[in-house]
Amino acid sequence: MIPTLTTPRLLLRAWRDDDLAAFEAMAADPAVMEFLPSLREPGALEAWVSRLKSHWREHGFGRWTVELPGKAGFAGIVGLAWVPYEAHFTPAVEIAWRLARPYWGCGYASEAARAALDYGFLGLGLAEIVAVTVPANSRSRRIMQRLGMTHDPADDYDHPNLPDGPLKRHVLYRLRNPMAAT
Ligand SMILES: CC(C)(COP(=O)(O)OP(=O)(O)OC[C@H]1O[C@@H](n2cnc3c(N)ncnc32)[C@H](O)[C@@H]1OP(=O)(O)O)[C@@H](O)C(=O)NCCC(=O)NCCS
Repeated sequence: MIPTLTTPRLLLRAWRDDDLAAFEAMAADPAVMEFLPSLREPGALEAWVSRLKSHWREHGFGRWTVELPGKAGFAGIVGLAWVPYEAHFTPAVEIAWRLARPYWGCGYASEAARAALDYGFLGLGLAEIVAVTVPANSRSRRIMQRLGMTHDPADDYDHPNLPDGPLKRHVLYRLRNPMAAT
């Protein structure tokens, strides 16, 4: 059973198969995909969704569809996942966000992320949650900073599954569970 989270303006709910068309439209927007690996290869979208669903089944947490009740049935995807590759900071749970462009600039991603962080820290008792992106993704980095995550340049790394190029280098932000003993 996938939990539903509510915030003042949002509903975070389980993926439904009728989200696919809106997800596909979001993945076709070059602005959304500027700093993300392409999902244009045949089968890539379906594989992404399949990983989202299997993560919930295997780990009991994952990424939610973000809804604006009464306004939009699909605004994007926000949530938690085990980092799916080995790096100097793994194993680690990451928080990630991607919203369709009409919903940028309203604070929705930060609002959804706060609910997901609470779920990770209070509900799952995670000791730490990380976030990663390419250095140039300033919108995403602003969310990390707004959430109180911290960045140490010594943690920066090359993504092991991405080819050399503008998406290879990544910055890492960390947030400790505020309830954890120091
Ligand atoms: C990254 C992404 C989610 C950021 O979206 P965003 O709308 O900038 O982030 P938020 O939802 O937190 O909104 C914050 C902005 O809304 C503004 N805002 C407007 N009304 C607001 C309100 N009521 N409450 C809070 N913020 C509000 C803030 O001032 C802020 O703008 P600023 O950063 O220019 O100062 C979005 O650009 C995206 O989906 N990008 C593509 C996918 C991607 O790169 N994901 C990250 C991969 S690591």
